[in-house]
Amino acid sequence: MPLPETGRMSDPSWWRQAAVYQIYPRSFADANGDGIGDLRGITSRVPYLRDLGIEAVWLSPFYPSALADGGYDVDDYRDVDPRLGTLEDFDEMVAALHAARIKVIVDIVPNHTGSGHRFFREALASPKGSPARERYIFRDGRGENGEQPPTDWISYFGGSAWEPVGDGQWYLHLFATEQPDLNWEHPEVREEFLTTLRFWSDRGVDGFRVDVAQLLAKDIPLDAADMPDKATADAIDRTTGRHPFEERPEVHEIYAAWREVFDSYDPPRTAVAEAWVTTPAQRARFASPEGLGQAFNFDLLEADFDAAQFRRIIERNLAIAAETGSSTTWVLSNHDVVRHATRYSLPPRGDSTQKAGAQWLLDGGDIEEVPVELGLARAHAATLFMLALPGSAYVYQGEELGLQEVGDIPAVQRQDPSFFRNPGVDVGRDGCRVPLPWSAEGPSFGFGDADPHLPQPEWFDEMTVEAESSDATSTLTLYRAALALRQFLRTEESLEWVDTGRDDVLHIRRPNGWAAIMNTGRRPYEMPDAPVLLASRVLSDPARIPADTTVWLQEG
Ligand code: GLC
Repeated sequence: MPLPETGRMSDPSWWRQAAVYQIYPRSFADANGDGIGDLRGITSRVPYLRDLGIEAVWLSPFYPSALADGGYDVDDYRDVDPRLGTLEDFDEMVAALHAARIKVIVDIVPNHTGSGHRFFREALASPKGSPARERYIFRDGRGENGEQPPTDWISYFGGSAWEPVGDGQWYLHLFATEQPDLNWEHPEVREEFLTTLRFWSDRGVDGFRVDVAQLLAKDIPLDAADMPDKATADAIDRTTGRHPFEERPEVHEIYAAWREVFDSYDPPRTAVAEAWVTTPAQRARFASPEGLGQAFNFDLLEADFDAAQFRRIIERNLAIAAETGSSTTWVLSNHDVVRHATRYSLPPRGDSTQKAGAQWLLDGGDIEEVPVELGLARAHAATLFMLALPGSAYVYQGEELGLQEVGDIPAVQRQDPSFFRNPGVDVGRDGCRVPLPWSAEGPSFGFGDADPHLPQPEWFDEMTVEAESSDATSTLTLYRAALALRQFLRTEESLEWVDTGRDDVLHIRRPNGWAAIMNTGRRPYEMPDAPVLLASRVLSDPARIPADTTVWLQEG
């Protein structure tokens, strides 16, 4: 039996199987007509979120930022970007979401600040060797006058991971130049974040999504001569904890201190780690109850639309979650990757649909060249299957409309640093961050009263919230039905695999008889004799589950 709604709001386990909707605030809804989404825009759309049937929202950063990395360059962790609103707007938004029984998760970006953060401005204004520089990772360059970077390390967005400041010193930035890495050995850095976690928790935030959680602890020698070069660092087995910045075990001391803050609230605040780690055991440590409590797995987001791959991933992740006492997370799309409706229309490479998506973008990202109907049917099937799994499910804004990646944004309108830092290699992530189409009206499909900050394609006009709301066969109608049923059918966190005799058909059954069958093959699969609750497409033959289709059944 599902818990009564009021019960779930104060239930400390609410996160374990919640459907969480990721909002990329600048592209969700623009209330003040400046072309950029804002917090009042979110508040105005709370009825939409309620009707969608999600139980929590996760907001990507909305803090003051120079937007060098879409807001993941935070200049002040305890305020709202004036373009997106004020703290009062934030409070109103939280109140409106809570009144609609929707929890609020905010993004915390602890590995680096933005270059406009007061700590970094102080560091730049202070001389070499001064305490203000200790909060970051400043090191002397190589060469007579420090004119060479300390190492040949490459930032995740391309280009050197070091930036000179003009006095022979360089600072480390594992991402964009405007994202200097913090020194987490510094007590003021630790204190700053504990204060930030309390600040938002006091304002009613229910949980935190922790950005690149594996990177915070570092061991970067003071002398460049003692630092490993890139090839040496790359060869280090990260599970040994000896890499200079990846997966160092000391990182867990940081999260143990955060856990004390989380647990000082009632109900305890929750957290989910974005942790890119090498082994399941490494991930489990982030998800432990003494740490952040839950960690993303991005395995489905990498996988092809392929039953065998899905099964391996599901079994592995349920086992990992069971070991730690956490629940697992399922993600098919987010603000960093090519949307799954597009990925699934590309020929599978067998290693990563992300790579297939990246290649398609490099080849021009022409939506006319891909079988979008096929991609969309598969996306529906994958989503419906994912929503039947035990654990929490993340839905990225726009996927409920079946949006495709916008692949052909002109270079002059692109914003992502990975595009600018990696010319010809990486097209970047703007194509999944295009403002949402709400209705046919206005200069931005109802997003706001101005031109949107990223261009929307003409084909958005068939995929607006307005158009899909009145279409019984739309993606939005499917998501609404699935999310509502999911709340109703919620049951214990386990599943049983039912033998299908085929590698390309998966059949799971939850303890209350809620079953899902996904057919990723070409041949239809015989429908079991059980009532169909929902199907990812209209079934022309009720006796068969066609290719690229998922059905939910009530079995027993
Ligand atoms: C995470 C975010 C990504 C951001 C990066 C640096 O991976 O999801 O959007 O660019 O961290 O903060």
